[in-house]
Order: sequence, then structure tokens, then C-alpha cells
Amino acid sequence: MNIILFGPPGAGKGTQADIISETMSIPTLSTGAMLREAMKAGTPMGLAAKSAIEAGSLVSDEVVIGIVKDRIAQDDCKNGFILDGFPRTIPQAEALDAMGTKIDVVLDIEVPDEAIVERMSGRRLCSACGASYHVKFNPSEDGETCDKCGAPLTLRKDDKPEVVEHRLGVYHAETEPLIGYYKNKNLLVTVDGQKSPAEVTALVKKALGI
Ligand code: AP5
Repeated sequence: MNIILFGPPGAGKGTQADIISETMSIPTLSTGAMLREAMKAGTPMGLAAKSAIEAGSLVSDEVVIGIVKDRIAQDDCKNGFILDGFPRTIPQAEALDAMGTKIDVVLDIEVPDEAIVERMSGRRLCSACGASYHVKFNPSEDGETCDKCGAPLTLRKDDKPEVVEHRLGVYHAETEPLIGYYKNKNLLVTVDGQKSPAEVTALVKKALGI
């Protein structure tokens, strides 16, 4: 099954992607994670993307379309994949269609703006393996290090409240129009993302029939 996980920044796309990926044994293709890896590795693409990401703006369509096209062509995507954070603009959605990839479902995790800032400012990421926690909703055992690998937890630069406000503005202007795009294709399923993480997972699994 080819799945798009859609929703505002902090809706819980990454959290749900991890669970679906494990349950269905299909990979998650997170453009945000791939761009952050490129930044960490200091590749030309990573360096070019850095300022846009840290400001909470979008990286160019050309760059992200190229990343996704290469990634989808890899062998492990043959039995399905989860797109997390792509497409984010109408040209990206059109480019995905042009790749000839059939999308089975677009899951829109709905969370109002008011709830987003608390989620983002409380998010902590493992500096080594990237595992995601939340100081209140999903804390690590000691609150400071990763349960999986023991490395220190960090705050993403673009999770500062003023950057989150900007990311939400970008979402409403550039990304939200995709709701109509996928509604017209009868692919959109909406999930209430304001419930607890476990309740959202139950809704997501029900929507996917898994
Ligand atoms: P990206 O990494 O994709 O960020 P995002 O879409 O803004 O989403 P996040 O990863 O921040 O949040 P999420 O929805 O995955 O939520 P999570 O599960 O972590 O993109 C970063 C940047 O890269 C972009 O700003 C842009 O610059 C660039 N980029 C990426 N893709 C691009 C593209 N296609 N085009 C152009 N540029 C692109 O949850 C958040 C927190 O809430 C966690 O702490 C979690 O534990 C907690 N939480 C989760 N679910 C719940 C719940 N139900 N209740 C309470 N807390 C919860």
C-alpha cells in the first residue's frame, strides 16, 4: 500500500509513520528527515536547504521532488511506502502523479493551530538515532537521554515557537490546498489528531484496515 501522511507541522505524522512502518513492514520516506540527514552530513544539498529549514520555510520543489523520485525508485519501496511530509505543494503533488506512482490513501491528521505550539516546543529528538519524544505526552525514561540508544535528547531549531508560527503560516498557504486536490481524487481520509497518541494510532489503523 502506498500511503501519504498529511497534516500540519506537529500533527503526529512521524509518530504514526513509525507505527505503520513497523506494522506493515514498509519504509517511511520523510523528506524532512532526509533533508536533516543531508544537513548533518554537510552535503551541498544539505547546506543549501539549511537556511530554509531553520527559518521554517519550504525547501525548493525541485530539490524535494528529486529526493523523492530517487528514493521511491529503490527496491524496498516495491511493496509499498509511507510518504511523510511530501507532497507539500501542488507542484510536488503533480510531480508525484507524473512519476506514475499510484497512491492508495491520503491520511489527513487534523490538529488545530492552538495545540501545535505545545506539541512542538515539548518535542525532543535523539541526537544519535533520531527517535522522537515529548516531555509531556511521550517522555523518555529519564527525560534527558534516549531510551533506545542512550544519546542525549535535543530540541529541533525549527521547533522554537516563533519558527513554528511561521511553519503554520506556510502550511496554510502552500500545503492545505492539497486537501482539495486529494479530495477530488477520492483519496482523502481525515483522522482526529487531537486525541491521545494511542487513540490516534487506533483511528489510523482502522482507516488503513491494519
Ligand atoms: P518535517 O520534518 O517534515 O516537519 P513537519 O511536517 O513540519 O512535521 P514534524 O516532523 O515537525 O511533525 P510531525 O507531524 O511528524 O509530528 P511528530 O510525530 O513529530 O519538515 C521540516 C522542514 O523540512 C520543513 O519545514 C521544510 O523546511 C523542509 N521540508 C520537508 N519536506 C518538505 C517538502 N516536501 N517540501 C519543501 N520543504 C520540505 O509529533 C510532534 C510532537 O507531538 C512529538 O513530540 C510527539 O511525541 C507529539 N505527539 C504526536 N502525536 C501526539 C498526540 N496525539 N497527542 C499529543 N502529542 C503528540
